[in-house]
Amino acid sequence: MPLTSKDLLKKSQMRRTYRKFLPEKVDMEVIKDCILTAGTAPNGANKQPWHFSIITNEELKKKIREKAEEIEKDFYENKISKEWKADLEKLTLSYEKPFLTEAPCLIGIFKENYVKLPDGTIDKNYYPNESIGIAIGFLINALRNAGYVSLTYTPSPMLFLKEILNRPEGEQPVMILVVGKPNPTYELPKITKKSFEEIADIID
Ligand SMILES: Cc1cc2nc3c(=O)[nH]c(=O)nc-3n(C[C@H](O)[C@H](O)[C@H](O)COP(=O)(O)O)c2cc1C
Repeated sequence: MPLTSKDLLKKSQMRRTYRKFLPEKVDMEVIKDCILTAGTAPNGANKQPWHFSIITNEELKKKIREKAEEIEKDFYENKISKEWKADLEKLTLSYEKPFLTEAPCLIGIFKENYVKLPDGTIDKNYYPNESIGIAIGFLINALRNAGYVSLTYTPSPMLFLKEILNRPEGEQPVMILVVGKPNPTYELPKITKKSFEEIADIID
């Protein structure tokens, strides 16, 4: 029996962002399938302007955590606005990011604005922002369907990720997707989602 829209809605309503993960290794075949699913996303002129770096190496995860916490500490202490800080406090977030080493898998996601060809000319991509957003949505959903949870983590600025992972000049880091099995000790923040009327209207 195919799933109805109500079944799919119920499943989607169960998706939550986790910030604590079990140390269990990921199945790389499954992760690869999820990345290929992201690669099926609609995108500007089919240029597929994205790159996904799958990181399971402990040393590399440690390096990313160190750099991210350095940036986050400065952000929390010097750059964040009062309003933003209050919103983050509701989610009980701080500059410390233990999930970057606890989670078994990090996916560094890069938006490809252009490719520099060997002769030096620039091959430009179209709508990279929109395209990467849709692809990330596909990826999060594929991971959820495969039994994994994720965290859309966005330290700012994120250029350190491009340096650590040695990505080419036309690419820009947009996110670290932290992936693994949910740690049941994580207390999910109590949040609600807007109603249909709050997010949509029907123009007949
Ligand atoms: C673009 C984007 C950036 C985000 N950045 C962070 C982040 O840096 N750290 C974090 O803990 N959560 C981050 N989140 C997760 C949101 O806080 C979370 O999705 C939101 O509170 C709703 O909770 P839910 O995903 O459990 O429904 C981000 C989400 C998005 C879409």
